[in-house]
Amino acid sequence: MRRLFNVFIIMGSLMAIHTHMTFTNIKCGSKDPTFAIFKKCFIKAVNRTHKYVDVYVNLYKLPIDNITISFRLMRHDHGYKPFFIDYTFDGCKFLRNQKHPIIKLFYKIYQGSSNINHTCPYDHDIIVDHLWTGNIESDFLKYIPMINGDYAVYSNWSTDNIMRAYLNLYFRVTERHS
Ligand SMILES: *[C@@H]1O[C@H](CO)[C@@H](O)[C@H](O)[C@H]1NC(C)=O
Ligand SMILES: *[C@@H]1O[C@H](CO)[C@@H](O)[C@H](O)[C@H]1NC(C)=O
Ligand SMILES: *[C@@H]1O[C@H](CO)[C@@H](O)[C@H](O)[C@H]1NC(C)=O
Ligand SMILES: *[C@@H]1O[C@H](CO)[C@@H](O)[C@H](O)[C@H]1NC(C)=O
Repeated sequence: MRRLFNVFIIMGSLMAIHTHMTFTNIKCGSKDPTFAIFKKCFIKAVNRTHKYVDVYVNLYKLPIDNITISFRLMRHDHGYKPFFIDYTFDGCKFLRNQKHPIIKLFYKIYQGSSNINHTCPYDHDIIVDHLWTGNIESDFLKYIPMINGDYAVYSNWSTDNIMRAYLNLYFRVTERHS
């Protein structure tokens, strides 16, 4: 895994200058309406180049001190297929030590725009407020060798071993011609 990650870094730094990422779709859903309800889950385009994601989740069983997250990077090729990254991890443990380099990469994407950026427990609703694509482009494409195409990050969120919600974010990577 470490070696694969290094290859990502090398390829990524060669590609970063030329690629552009844009959100194309987002899908959120509650698997347990007594636990969580999505009040917001959308992408908004403010002009031709700038888009942001907003998410708002009402939580009904607080506090939360046990979170398991599964996430998988997907690439579209006759349907979405798994693409290199597939992890299941203890969210509270990650937030305490932030050691895993690839999980950290994903975390840094939303860290500045969400209130799920502190250690457990959680005793409030979840908000992702104006997560802009532009910031992701610079951090993310540096590390992951993504050629042109359609991608998605699928994620499942569980607490106490019960799946509560999923969130799938779709995006497109294109070469910039300028
Ligand atoms: C698009 O909107 C963003 C955010 O408001 C702004 O920074 C950017 O300059 C706008 N771009 C164009 C081409 O209007
Ligand atoms: C999320 O859960 C669904 C249903 O249990 C499963 O089919 C899917 O593979 C899971 N996705 C991830 C990213 O773990
Ligand atoms: C956490 O997110 C909030 C916005 O929701 C932001 O103001 C704050 O700086 C972030 N904290 C960290 C440690 O990134
Ligand atoms: C989270 O809950 C599950 C199911 O109750 C349990 O197996 C797991 O050990 C818990 N994790 C932590 C870090 O407490």
